[in-house]
Amino acid sequence: MKPPLSSSPCSASASASTTLFRKGRLSPYLFTLLAFILFITILQSEDFTSYIFHAEFTTDRSFHRDQTISSSTSKFEKVEEKLAFAIGESENNCDIFHGLWVQDESWPIYEEWECPYIQPQLACQAYGRPDKGYQQWRWQPYGCSLPRFNATLFMESLRGKRMMFVGDSLNRGQYISMVCLLHRAVSENAKSLKNSGPNMVFTAKDYNATVEFYWAPLLLESNADHPKKKITDRIIRKGSIDVHGKHWKGVDILVFGCYVWWARGVEYINILRGTFEDEVKDVVKVRTEEAYGLAIEGMMEWCEKNMDPKKTRVFFTSMSPFHQKSSEWGGLPDGNCYNETTLIDDPTYWGYECSKPIMRVISEVFSRSQFPIIFLNVTQLSGYRKDAHSSVYKKQWVPLTPEKIANPMSYADCVHWCLPGVPDTWNEFLFSKLFYP
Ligand SMILES: *[C@@H]1O[C@H](CO)[C@@H](O)[C@H](O)[C@H]1NC(C)=O
Ligand SMILES: *[C@@H]1O[C@H](CO)[C@@H](O)[C@H](O)[C@H]1NC(C)=O
Ligand SMILES: *[C@@H]1O[C@H](CO)[C@@H](O)[C@H](O)[C@H]1NC(C)=O
Ligand SMILES: *[C@@H]1O[C@H](CO)[C@@H](O)[C@H](O)[C@H]1NC(C)=O
Repeated sequence: MKPPLSSSPCSASASASTTLFRKGRLSPYLFTLLAFILFITILQSEDFTSYIFHAEFTTDRSFHRDQTISSSTSKFEKVEEKLAFAIGESENNCDIFHGLWVQDESWPIYEEWECPYIQPQLACQAYGRPDKGYQQWRWQPYGCSLPRFNATLFMESLRGKRMMFVGDSLNRGQYISMVCLLHRAVSENAKSLKNSGPNMVFTAKDYNATVEFYWAPLLLESNADHPKKKITDRIIRKGSIDVHGKHWKGVDILVFGCYVWWARGVEYINILRGTFEDEVKDVVKVRTEEAYGLAIEGMMEWCEKNMDPKKTRVFFTSMSPFHQKSSEWGGLPDGNCYNETTLIDDPTYWGYECSKPIMRVISEVFSRSQFPIIFLNVTQLSGYRKDAHSSVYKKQWVPLTPEKIANPMSYADCVHWCLPGVPDTWNEFLFSKLFYP
């Protein structure tokens, strides 16, 4: 279940084509929308038009705001509906992803030893990390404060319901963080966490609720679905979202997140038409971001078809950044996250350039979504956290050679995050957007 480890030079260009997933989607819907906007432009002020653009083209705050235009077309009716689970509104329309990390001694929200579910690859203190400073950073948005994570409120809202995280090992880290945040609201003998294959289920008996993790690192059916298999060449099957999607049916809160299997060591992904059983496989190579677009478009269409916007919610966590090359933040030429204990303080820092074309693809695909997918834009803010990876403080699956022991940098994990740590913040965002959208 380890992510692929080869590192790749990123040569994905800014102008990378996205034709494949655009094809066939310039729908009557878009045409109607354009006509509608033109109509509005003629009738109303410019402000009003830009307002509509805002309502339709932003991913995370568009579906509950407007009262005035909602009666104009049925398309906009969903705009005024209250989102499921919401109990309030965000303070001053605040962009919670725009802010800074502040040191806070009352952090972390839970202690590593208090959470029995942290896996050995994320339990950094247990595996000898000497410092604890990485746990004591809280995200402070500029325009407001994040609501305090309330596990009781969350569990009460999950009564008789299912929440599921779908994605790769980074998404699983966010899942474990969520279980650590929630389990304290469940009494001792009424909870359990079970593994089945790569999937996991946390059950809270008193609440008749489950919080689950479902492994689908490339979202579509792929040759990475059996995590023990070591693969170098990635293949996804076009139009196969239901292969995994059938396991998500009936879930009340879905949280998607995947990136690492797309990004490391690959510039191209193979798209399979036909099936994995075909003797002669019909495969085309496309750029990674293009394939990514196909996958999230499949996911989005699945949500449109299978999720009820009145009763359920869908989140998408953006790419989790790596810190494998200290040259990216002006450190030593051959370093990585090993021995890093401070944050990157350049607010413009982005790091791994390859994630930019993917970010663009996400914006583009989600702007067409008819289901309100809430985007948790964690990439840049997590990028400042070179201090917070598992590094060498985790269980090693194969014994280390003397050469490696002599050079810890060579085996530091600069992809996954210690818990408690950065993924807790992603879940604070989730909490905030779920209850105070
Ligand atoms: C957490 O939520 C519960 C249930 O809604 C509520 O009774 C309690 O006061 C909340 N706790 C805090 C600290 O806000
Ligand atoms: C428990 O939750 C499931 C949904 O996850 C629901 O179908 C079932 O009716 C619930 N059972 C009780 C006893 O509330
Ligand atoms: C780790 O960093 C400290 C300074 O931050 C330095 O003194 C020490 O030599 C470094 N250790 C290694 C093994 O690089
Ligand atoms: C996410 O935030 C970054 C800045 O951190 C911004 O450049 C990007 O456009 C945002 N993406 C979306 C889809 O909102």
